[in-house]
Amino acid sequence: MIDHDVIIVGGGLAGSRAALEIARTNPSLSVAVVAKTHPIRSHSVAAQGGMAATLKNVDETDSWEAHAFDTVKGSDYLADQDAVAILTQEAPDVVIDLEHMGVLFSRLPDGRIAQRAFGGHSHNRTCYAADKTGHAILHELICNLMKYGVKVYEEWYVMRLILEDGQAKGVVLYHLLDGQVEVIRAKAVMFATGGYGRVYNTTSNDYASTGDGLAMTAMAGLPLEDMEFVQFHPTGLYPVGVLISEAVRGEGAYLINSDGDRFMANYAPSRMELAPRDITSRAITYEIRAGRGIKPDGSAGGVFVYLDLRHMGKEKIMSRVPFCWEEAHRLVGVDAVYQPMPVRPTVHYSMGGIPVNTDGQVRSSADELVEGFFAAGETSCVSVHGANRLGSNSLLECVVYGRRTGAAIARYVENRKLPEVNAERYIQDANTQLQSLIDQPGEYRIHQVRQAYQDCMTDHCGVFRTEATMQEGLVQLRELQKKYAHVRVDDKGKTWNTELIEAMELRSLFVVGEMILSSALNRKESRGSHCREDYTQRDDQSFLKHTLAYYSPAGIDINYMPVVINQFEPQERKY
Ligand code: FUM
Repeated sequence: MIDHDVIIVGGGLAGSRAALEIARTNPSLSVAVVAKTHPIRSHSVAAQGGMAATLKNVDETDSWEAHAFDTVKGSDYLADQDAVAILTQEAPDVVIDLEHMGVLFSRLPDGRIAQRAFGGHSHNRTCYAADKTGHAILHELICNLMKYGVKVYEEWYVMRLILEDGQAKGVVLYHLLDGQVEVIRAKAVMFATGGYGRVYNTTSNDYASTGDGLAMTAMAGLPLEDMEFVQFHPTGLYPVGVLISEAVRGEGAYLINSDGDRFMANYAPSRMELAPRDITSRAITYEIRAGRGIKPDGSAGGVFVYLDLRHMGKEKIMSRVPFCWEEAHRLVGVDAVYQPMPVRPTVHYSMGGIPVNTDGQVRSSADELVEGFFAAGETSCVSVHGANRLGSNSLLECVVYGRRTGAAIARYVENRKLPEVNAERYIQDANTQLQSLIDQPGEYRIHQVRQAYQDCMTDHCGVFRTEATMQEGLVQLRELQKKYAHVRVDDKGKTWNTELIEAMELRSLFVVGEMILSSALNRKESRGSHCREDYTQRDDQSFLKHTLAYYSPAGIDINYMPVVINQFEPQERKY
């Protein structure tokens, strides 16, 4: 068994910012980060467009209150307003702190940090590093982890949270390199394990975004909050689904249908292409359904629309969004200086997650906390995004709440002892689980079951939902779950057994998918990204509340928790 004061699972922005805060606050603490990839391959590295903060470098009339209002309105009034106030008040400070660490933000001609327009934000407040902002920030944070002596376990897959008597005591983990199983015991465990885009068949997320932290938390008997709110980013590159940043529209690109119209004029006339993502993704889907989508030969009736940058000119495209130009060129052969890009919505982000308070401590119910267990970033739900996140608030959440959670953990572990853990038992259980996966005489390859599962989730719980489609989705999902017991792991070895990891990830996907479908079925209204064609209106009377879903193999129990509303009364949401 390995001991640390603090173990953080996940090496992306939230996890590394928390680790750095703990190390800065109390250098005598032993802090470790476990990551299933190398930390600089965490999905945060793929974040493109930027991080919102009211620095007022471009627009002096901006304020944290305006940022908070935009965020709450964008959330369709489901965000907790105490958490949003913290997010928006601390934003300028965390950006400046990053800048002092060495993050290379793009600049205005006078040398101050540049800020661009983003969807749903009423002022130009998104700070950026061209369209590689996550890359710029994560590299600097990881360098700082080295500097502060944080131990990094890279390419270790965490299989289980050790939770006993309402206290998190450590994790069980598998080393990809050599198949070794270990227990890490700690005074505090933090999950910063990111999202679950791979639940769906088209996503901007990397292959590692399989919701493992969410599934482990649910399987430990703890709730997940607001899992029905799945964000579709409007501009996934067709057909691959990778992200074409909202920054492209922030810099002036148009969305065009097969008639050549800027159709957003019919859906959000005051914001056009910079409407929030839920509205823009629905608009694109409506256009495609109405036959105004585009086919690869340019004719009507296809499944994508155009993102047109041509009027922006080569110089602006290459200086502000060079990576998006490169993606389209490399992946689909489109030169965006001269040709429009084919785009359609792609699964991008999870508004829901592990419920936490504003110190990042995990909730076991509406009013109880779990001892020694913390979470931050996309895997958590604090909830600053409610039913729909605004672009460029996610990097911000990772850094603000990563820092806060790190500070809270440093306080929490002070004067605490390491817990008692029977490591032998956990290691034996894990080895038995792995051996039975290896030994099971399966008739299905993992990718076959995963593909069928991803198609099922995409077809039954997408941009639009109904009772009937989701019920059918649950039936199909349960059938596919039975096949999980018959998947075959051909690689029986201990060295670099990525097939075994894929088998464990598939289990995570199943748990997360069932939580999404069950939470979505129970919310009989339309709010933010959760758009039901059988309940088309927002229903504050019955559903202005957070879902808390509890997993068990026999089925999911749904509870609810109040929303914190202390600044902005809910209004009709129009743009
Ligand atoms: O479009 C983007 O660059 C994504 C930003 C975000 O999800 O915050």
